[in-house]
Amino acid sequence: MAEIEKLDLTSMDIKEHQIEKLKELFPEAFTEGNKIDWDRLRRTLGEQIDAGKERYGMNWPGKADCFRTIQQPSIATLVPAREESVDFDTTQNLFIEGDNLEALKLLQKSYLGKIKMIYIDPPYNTGNDFIYPDNYTENLDTYLAYTGQVDAEGRKFATNTETDGRFHSKWLNMMYPRLFLAKNLLREDGVIFISIDDNAVLNLRTICNEVFGEENFIAELVWQKKTGAGAKSKGFIRLHEYVLCYAKSISPTWDIAAPMSEKTKAMYNKKDEYFDQLGPFATWPLDTTSMDERANLRFPIFHEGNEIWPRKQWLWSRERVERAQQQNKLVFNHNEKDNSWSVRFKGYLYDEDGEEKSGKPTSVMIGPYTQEGTKDFQKYFDRDVFPFPKPVSLLKQLLSIRVEGVEATEEDIALDFFAGSSTTGEAVLRLNQECPKKTKFILVQLPEPCTEDSEAYKAGYKTIADIGKERLRMVIKKIKEEHSEKTDMFKGDISSLDLGFKVFKLSKSNFNIWDSNVEKTPEALGRQLELHTSHISAEASQEAILFELLLKSGFELTTPIEKLTLEGKTVYSIAEGELLICLDKHLTNEVIKAMAERKPSRVICLDEGFQDNDQLKTNAVQIMKSKNVVFRTV
Ligand SMILES: C[S@@+](CC[C@H](N)C(=O)[O-])C[C@H]1O[C@@H](n2cnc3c(N)ncnc32)[C@H](O)[C@@H]1O
Repeated sequence: MAEIEKLDLTSMDIKEHQIEKLKELFPEAFTEGNKIDWDRLRRTLGEQIDAGKERYGMNWPGKADCFRTIQQPSIATLVPAREESVDFDTTQNLFIEGDNLEALKLLQKSYLGKIKMIYIDPPYNTGNDFIYPDNYTENLDTYLAYTGQVDAEGRKFATNTETDGRFHSKWLNMMYPRLFLAKNLLREDGVIFISIDDNAVLNLRTICNEVFGEENFIAELVWQKKTGAGAKSKGFIRLHEYVLCYAKSISPTWDIAAPMSEKTKAMYNKKDEYFDQLGPFATWPLDTTSMDERANLRFPIFHEGNEIWPRKQWLWSRERVERAQQQNKLVFNHNEKDNSWSVRFKGYLYDEDGEEKSGKPTSVMIGPYTQEGTKDFQKYFDRDVFPFPKPVSLLKQLLSIRVEGVEATEEDIALDFFAGSSTTGEAVLRLNQECPKKTKFILVQLPEPCTEDSEAYKAGYKTIADIGKERLRMVIKKIKEEHSEKTDMFKGDISSLDLGFKVFKLSKSNFNIWDSNVEKTPEALGRQLELHTSHISAEASQEAILFELLLKSGFELTTPIEKLTLEGKTVYSIAEGELLICLDKHLTNEVIKAMAERKPSRVICLDEGFQDNDQLKTNAVQIMKSKNVVFRTV
């Protein structure tokens, strides 16, 4: 009897992925059995191996477990929650409710190397933070207990206090695996921004240097977030925090650019004959005293019979100046008092292609201030429902920072896996209104319970994830209302805007997956075997199973799904027929043939669907093989 290979229902095997990368670089260092030959690798790398005992780096209790945490595959899934979503069937935006470590693992297969920008605003380790307790052997169980999905008896979820002997280690153990997994998701030209304050900036920068590589450090932005503090504050009045910025893989051809600030843009306020093509212009002095002396930049410019000399030299060469003068792109000003002349050149707002010119972001950001974040939030909620959300305009600024020198893509994905009240989601929705380039978002937020005495709880929000989802719904409603009141505020067509988001919740798999972590006792193994005889969870909906198969086959959660009827059976066509899924429990030769005829690259069926008919299984394997279709069952 032909055996059908089973679909791997766990998240991407990180160790395997790392080994593949190594193999791509050093195929010569692998043995026949696909094991690493250290001696050969050492010979290949020669002098570069550091065999010394003492080396520079950072260590803390639990660091070794971080690697185990990273390598432990997730056996969880993301279950769709249609009723909490907006435009579930068409939107490309995602809100994932769950612990971000599990979520990042589950996203690896489908989103590897696809994220353009990550912003996170993690707990700052101030001594009052709740640090989600990862346990690499039973992280999903911890989560289920935490969210009350299984009996939480005996489990305590406490805040990370400074008196705790492992105060810094706990925070580092939480951050390290998440940053590692996040890096995998970034595109080659992707960038991550991380908000942090004085408490943890040093540790964060050190682990980022390790995870991303020191060479990929872009900036430690100083964000001035307020203008003053109460008279009672001790020591220096801290007005700032930081935003660390790292690239996935910096390239020498890159440069960082950002849209011009509104203040700079306002300087472009004069018109000339180039207005239609190049927009308004501003002027700048053509002479300079600050550059090194260059003889070829010192020459006279003739204007209306006057010979004008620079104080030291001009910025441009003689040819360039003459060309600008012929094109009327210089401005001459006469000073009546001393009968002197000054020359300025015109700079236009748009380049030759009609694109607005970029500005250069600076490493110090003065504002937007924290109270702006509170005001943004207060448009929808009482201010105390969520303390200190980031200002939407801060996120808009970070999202607008561009990498120049790489091919631009039509659509980008932005990820925030400490989403809080969904400020990043609001910023993406607002930016999409303003610029032709479209960005999709993926937000991940723990359903951290709001305590019963909190304003959030009193206002009806049981968890922070509930606040985040509700904010997105309210922002979407507001954008639609604004549009119906004032139709000229959008550049482009409102119907082209994606004003929706799909909600998914972290849950146990819909399948009873063999858990390699259970104790190796006869009782525990017996229970696993029992689970395996009825493989699909009784509560699982077709839609939940479908999305789990999508995710575990490496398709994005927003991939188009079409429902077909083939030979009387329901078949789901994923990504325009690339993958066909049939969840029918009574498969027939006809439906197997009909699926194979469509020449998908992959087909997935339920093992149960064969009803123990070995003949049908053997036929199915042969039919799929004859059409070169990868065939899997679950
Ligand atoms: C500082 S807040 C983010 C605020 C957000 N930037 C805003 O403007 O609303 C950090 C959030 O991360 C969430 N969080 C903490 N641990 C998490 C985890 N393991 N998975 C997902 N979210 C987590 C917390 O519940 C908290 O809401």
